[in-house]
Amino acid sequence: MKILAIETSCDETAISVVEANGKIDAPKFKILGAAVASQISVHAPWGGVVPNLAKREHLANLPIILEEATKKIEKLNPELICVTVGPGLEPALWPGIEYAKELKKYFPKTKVLGVNHLEGHLFSFLLSKKIEKYKLEKLFPAAALIVSGGHTTLLKVDSLVDWKKMGETRDDAAGEAYDKVSKMLGLPYPGGPELEKLANQGNSKVIKFPRPMLNDPNYDFSFSGLKTSVLYYLRDNPNFKKEDVAASFQEAVIETLIGKTEKLAKKINARSIFLSGGVAVNKTLRNEMEKISKKNKTPLFVAATEFNTDNAVMIGVAGYLTYLRGKKYPLKANGTLSI
Ligand code: KG4
Ligand code: ZN
Repeated sequence: MKILAIETSCDETAISVVEANGKIDAPKFKILGAAVASQISVHAPWGGVVPNLAKREHLANLPIILEEATKKIEKLNPELICVTVGPGLEPALWPGIEYAKELKKYFPKTKVLGVNHLEGHLFSFLLSKKIEKYKLEKLFPAAALIVSGGHTTLLKVDSLVDWKKMGETRDDAAGEAYDKVSKMLGLPYPGGPELEKLANQGNSKVIKFPRPMLNDPNYDFSFSGLKTSVLYYLRDNPNFKKEDVAASFQEAVIETLIGKTEKLAKKINARSIFLSGGVAVNKTLRNEMEKISKKNKTPLFVAATEFNTDNAVMIGVAGYLTYLRGKKYPLKANGTLSI
């Protein structure tokens, strides 16, 4: 089945065409075309994403990105159009949804299906290179961590149709904490990648920032207090070394993420670990997660960078699974849609 997928939940306009086949116990995906337009330069002067600017950019970018994503495809006749309906910024979600409906007019036999952005991140593990070497059923139950700019969520995944949220952040998401701390350090938006670069040059043992909720008997996170600790440290230590602050902050975040994931994996006797979301691009996080996965013999599945930051290939993948399980999300923007 040929799927055209659209993603506009935040500041990336993305479209993909994915050929999806197979049943829910062994789906197969082939990427026929994909393109992403980042809006970084538009939002950077504001230090964060401005929802109405995002909307304006999506409206302008969608036709251009469609052309780019489909340029190698001779005949575009999708059997399914998938579009992110949430969670995300509602003014940003709407242009994608309206565009999907508009495109349907050109392909009357095509259905439009709403997709949950977080399911997109979660199921991006199906795009990891390693996945081909494993039988899908052998991976479950899995402990899955989604870490993005808007979410930090831990799940127990029993199959491609059955999962349970076990914990999430009570305030800031991990990516949001990265972005806010990098702002305090005077780094440009988006802060995550910049802060990682700086952290690689620093000493993480210099400052002992708190590991929020690490030892609490649950799978929730909280990064707002850690962010405040950094703020106080900068205020009280005017001669601080940026690199050491970045490295110490990053270590506190990663130790917390890893600690909770490992705890969940042990509790549910996980047979694998899935890691996804924009923060999953972070090399230190990947390396540390790889270490615990080796130690506990629970293989780690994480897709390539381009499938962790917001993209439409993961929406095509999640869309196909949504179709197979007969789920129908309303075709309207839902900023707080949960997984
Ligand atoms: O998944 P994503 O592209 O968008 C959302 O759904 O939120 O995630 C974006 C988040 C931003 O907060 C960004 O700073 C963070 O991912 N991020 C990183 C890195 N690259 C992106 N955080 C830490 N280290 C990175 N290398
Ligand atoms: Zn995302």
